Amino acid sequence: MVRGWRYKVEAVILSLLGFTGFLFLLQTNDSPNVHPPKEASENTAWTPATATETLRPIAECRANASVANVSGFAELPDHIKNFLRYKHCRTFPLLLDVPDKCGPPNSSHLVFLLLAIKSSPGNYERREIIRKTWGEERTFEGVCIRRVFLSGVASNPRETRKLNRLLRLEAEEHRDVLQWGFQDSFFNLTLKQALFHAWMEARCPGVRFIFNGDDDVFANTDNIVRYLLSVPGAGDRHLFVGQLITNVGPIREKWSKYYVPEQVTASKSYPPYCGGGGLLMSGYTSHAIYKESLGLELFPIDDVYLGMCLQKAGLAPASHMGIRTVGVRVPSSKLEPFDPCYYKELLLVHRFVPYEMLVMWRDIHRPDLVCGKKTAVYGSL
Ligand SMILES: *[C@@H]1O[C@H](CO)[C@@H](O)[C@H](O)[C@H]1NC(C)=O
Ligand SMILES: *[C@@H]1O[C@H](CO)[C@@H](O)[C@H](O)[C@H]1NC(C)=O
Ligand SMILES: *[C@@H]1O[C@H](CO)[C@@H](O)[C@H](O)[C@H]1NC(C)=O
Ligand SMILES: *[C@@H]1O[C@H](CO)[C@@H](O)[C@H](O)[C@H]1NC(C)=O
Repeated sequence: MVRGWRYKVEAVILSLLGFTGFLFLLQTNDSPNVHPPKEASENTAWTPATATETLRPIAECRANASVANVSGFAELPDHIKNFLRYKHCRTFPLLLDVPDKCGPPNSSHLVFLLLAIKSSPGNYERREIIRKTWGEERTFEGVCIRRVFLSGVASNPRETRKLNRLLRLEAEEHRDVLQWGFQDSFFNLTLKQALFHAWMEARCPGVRFIFNGDDDVFANTDNIVRYLLSVPGAGDRHLFVGQLITNVGPIREKWSKYYVPEQVTASKSYPPYCGGGGLLMSGYTSHAIYKESLGLELFPIDDVYLGMCLQKAGLAPASHMGIRTVGVRVPSSKLEPFDPCYYKELLLVHRFVPYEMLVMWRDIHRPDLVCGKKTAVYGSL
């Protein structure tokens, strides 16, 4: 708790300092030609030959006014009303692209692992630390790792302009930001996921494997690569692993972040799926998900939606013991909760704050780190 507090205070001070500097920057470096739509059109410089319909900017999508007729609509929380009004909107302009992320499309098979990390525009510190730690673009065990952050537009309109500028600066410096012109909100994460699969089809059709997750996880990409190298088929077969969740259904309690009312789905159960905090899939499976998603209405919970796509494709998600997206239970009370020996064996753990990612990434790579008996969880399915 003490640690958490100090971090918060530091973060507040840093962000205040940063914000003052940022205001200065905006004031001195602002010109009338940088409002978002302009930026967008300047950045849509992809090659027409490879771009599909889904990558092209389109006219604004209209709200479906008839949803107001659905019984009980007026009593629903605002974000659910919005979901129902806009769920038919599936095409959004790509404001920031990295067309050559995987090289020319005919050589994208040379990318072994693409890290596709969902990140809201405001999560700058998380992206910075991920770039320097587990998300670094590198060659490891002879294979190539690449990274993209998946983002929408800040949902708070007062932040939109400066956060668009931030993402653009990051994109120029790191070439790792995909941004689409929709509101980046929790209930739009499925939209983000669907647009990502469409982007994959156009830009990185041959990528072997994909890590798909949030920006608050600690992913041990060394172990992920070692595990994926041991998987037969090199990405040409079905693979979809993570923390498997089965026998659950929609939460009907209004207070829950995951509340899904009958107006969204009458079904009482979800298909098996993997926790969306972090999972691994093959290029083959990404393609299958893309195809199924075209004919499947959006569902507000993104990881459940992937489960629905898999079910439609006749493919099953599987569990991997080394992926812990729903809380970590440290195996023994003798181990410290932050013991690098524990994390060294895992593939992925949910909820690290940025500085913890830095410390842990360095610690598991310390040549003098001595650990006891290996639990070797990363090799087991
Ligand atoms: C449903 O909504 C539309 C659009 O708001 C409206 O024109 C129509 O009268 C409504 N229909 C019913 C049955 O309430
Ligand atoms: C609009 O909402 C109504 C009521 O839910 C639905 O029947 C209709 O299919 C929707 N239209 C579109 C374009 O999604
Ligand atoms: C990919 O396409 C380019 C241009 O069409 C061509 O020059 C190149 O040889 C191709 N590369 C491979 C690996 O097929
Ligand atoms: C999703 O994004 C669209 C486009 O920006 C927006 O109109 C809609 O309200 C968003 N939906 C939710 C549930 O936030």
